[in-house]
Amino acid sequence: MQSHKAHRSTISGYPTKIDPTAVVIFGATGDLTQRKIIPAFYHLRKHGRLPDHFVIVGFARRPYGEKEFRALLKQSLEDYSHTHPIDPEVWQWLEERIFYLQGDLANPEDYVKLAHLLNSLPESKYYKDNHLFYLATAPKYFPIVSENLAKAGLNPQPGISGQRRLIVEKPFGTDLKSARELNSILQKYFPEKSIFRIDHYLGKETVQNLLYFRFGNSIFEPLWDRKYIDHVQITVAETQTIGSRGEYYDATGASRDMLQNHLMQLFSLIAMEPPASLEAESIRDEKVKVLKSVPIPSSEEWLHNSVRAQYGPGILGGKTIKAYREEEKVSKNSLTETYVCVKLEIDNWRWSGVPFYLRTGKALAKQFSEICIVFNRPPCVLFANSTKKVARNWLKIRIQPNEGIHLLFNTKVPNLPALQEAKMDFYYRRYGDHYFPEAYERLLLDALNGESTLFTRSDEVEYAWRIIDALRNAWNEEEVDSIPLYAPGSMGPVEADELLRRDGRYWGPPPKEEEEIQEAES
Ligand code: BG6
Repeated sequence: MQSHKAHRSTISGYPTKIDPTAVVIFGATGDLTQRKIIPAFYHLRKHGRLPDHFVIVGFARRPYGEKEFRALLKQSLEDYSHTHPIDPEVWQWLEERIFYLQGDLANPEDYVKLAHLLNSLPESKYYKDNHLFYLATAPKYFPIVSENLAKAGLNPQPGISGQRRLIVEKPFGTDLKSARELNSILQKYFPEKSIFRIDHYLGKETVQNLLYFRFGNSIFEPLWDRKYIDHVQITVAETQTIGSRGEYYDATGASRDMLQNHLMQLFSLIAMEPPASLEAESIRDEKVKVLKSVPIPSSEEWLHNSVRAQYGPGILGGKTIKAYREEEKVSKNSLTETYVCVKLEIDNWRWSGVPFYLRTGKALAKQFSEICIVFNRPPCVLFANSTKKVARNWLKIRIQPNEGIHLLFNTKVPNLPALQEAKMDFYYRRYGDHYFPEAYERLLLDALNGESTLFTRSDEVEYAWRIIDALRNAWNEEEVDSIPLYAPGSMGPVEADELLRRDGRYWGPPPKEEEEIQEAES
């Protein structure tokens, strides 16, 4: 029988009590720690969500002392916190609990020192063996860190008095084979229930709302299938270029950086069947079923149903943008895509025949993430005299920014025998003064609590790779020396518009920010 005493995730409610814990951050002087992890712990404390007995140990190569490390983190909090001013009392509380160990990720002896430090800090009598190890390092270190933790006896062991958990950042592997290998190495030292694979999209408030919205209303779910829905669009558009990430990005591309993880998460949440409960395994089982039901297209079909492209040179937001191939640490002959668009099908009773169009890209006109559910066109017989086709109804779920939900429907034009499109808008902002936690706050709190709903399970990662591998194989088989270009500040290549146009469809237009902000605040 399934246990009903499982930990509560932040999906179904906030945990009331977190056990005392020592968090160890590997890669503690890096970007992720500074931009995301420390601001998240600060806000968790600010909202009273950290246990009183709590420490953070930073593990990195730089020859820092505690004082310098704390100063670095204080500065990064000032720079990257999403709320200001920084509350000095909250920071002081956190700072006193931050320690530093200079160490080499590859050196087993440094992990022995770590074990010793964890046992000797004054708080250790409270947190005992409750350790949360955060791998905020380059992925190539994931195997060696987990192995060295085990060698130092810091992985879960029979008879220890606490929980030892491992947080792993994306990217998780570079293809199905490497993801499987990584899974099997990590699982050698940490059982699956102790591994927390981060996809920060799952920590976003509006992504969690997909479940609440779908299953907490009786008017949408009955329409959520092939009888009523014509197609679904998922867009994650970014205005930024690849910046200084040339080395990582050129080896990765949009299909592995965004599609395999963030977009696949949105895809499976929007398409999944109602779970039996809000517990981790129920939700994750349903998400995996969606991925399993995607028929893998042949290479020929993939080439027909996907578009890859790179940004060319141009102007974006008044700034001159170099072509992708001219970016630092990017090969001059690179075929790496900064834009990808795919058409996927789900071969099950709910969705058979309903295409899902997914697209993501850098250097685009607008920064926004949105899911559009586009309903079937009503029969037009009543409006046969109209010169225009009756518009389809659109339900737009905005993940970010100006988070909200918009419904487009048709109404009569007063005093004329014609239809016009009307819009019903909901903006979270109008809800009042709600605090929107950053994704990492949610995820860290859940990892501290041992709750894995918002983390990616090993089979989920592998099924997502199965889809992306087939796509990339199709691309690799193509003998080309360039891929289509798009202008920075556009919404991507014309080929992506064409992909929908040939199906008689079109992409929803990007949001008009200024109007939206006015509406949201009115
Ligand atoms: C990261 C990708 O995972 O997500 C980045 O590596 C991308 O390339 C980022 O910019 C987008 O996240 P968000 O939360 O800003 O939409």
